[in-house]
Amino acid sequence: MSRLLQISDTHFGTEQPAVADALRALVQAEQVEHVLLAGDITMRARRGQFAAARAFMDSLPVQTRMTLPGNHDISLWLPWRRFLWPYRLYQQYFPTAFDTDGVIHWDLGPIHLIGVRTTRRYRHIQGEASPAQIANVSRRLQALPDDALKLVAVHQPALVIEEEERKNLLRGAVQANASWRAAGAAGVLGGHIHEPYVELIPPGPQDAPTPLWALQSGTALSDRIRDNYPNSVNLIRPATAAPQGHLHNPLQLRNPQWQVERWDFDASLQAFACVATTWLR
Ligand SMILES: [Fe+2]
Ligand SMILES: [Fe+2]
Repeated sequence: MSRLLQISDTHFGTEQPAVADALRALVQAEQVEHVLLAGDITMRARRGQFAAARAFMDSLPVQTRMTLPGNHDISLWLPWRRFLWPYRLYQQYFPTAFDTDGVIHWDLGPIHLIGVRTTRRYRHIQGEASPAQIANVSRRLQALPDDALKLVAVHQPALVIEEEERKNLLRGAVQANASWRAAGAAGVLGGHIHEPYVELIPPGPQDAPTPLWALQSGTALSDRIRDNYPNSVNLIRPATAAPQGHLHNPLQLRNPQWQVERWDFDASLQAFACVATTWLR
């Protein structure tokens, strides 16, 4: 079994302790093995916020802890520091062995996750997947076994579903989605806009119609909640016989191998509850 929890936008400094306790309880109850924290770990990239985030991640009883930096994890206040060492504090608290393109491969057994550092020091909010990163990820995807669940993780969304969010779309997303779809990726995980959704990315006119999903997680712990979306996380796991919550199955799969569950924080229960299951493939 392999269970991967996708969380993002914890924004330590604005985290809610009761929600953090509930998330830890979810990890325990669902026997999560791997956790990805896909950026905006902190609110202001301050040392104390990174330290609190690290303590929280260390408190989760999992085998694998993976992180990517978000735009909030680059120092806002000291332009010289941002220019010379944008990831200094991030790397101090969350050492991440990116290659020279800013790409890392995590082998989780049946799941392979390829992380891309999409934040840019000269572009504070909008992120980018560069041509070199897109090609690098595609080469790595092509080298993986066909039966693996191949996922890519970024910070900014690879698909937006509301027109007003178009400004937040990852730069290079169209090229990245086409290349990663052709290389066998099943999904692109992201955060940044604090809106949870799991939707198919429409293929471009030149693309094969292989399904490629956008898996967006909301803010896991922060009180910066948008448009009444509660705190929310995604749990990727082998498909279960009795999916919980609303079943989202646009591919009309009958014998799915993998599913992603959306778990929202329910304030009345003081716990995360599964509200929707999407059958991925
Ligand atoms: Fe964020
Ligand atoms: Fe962000």
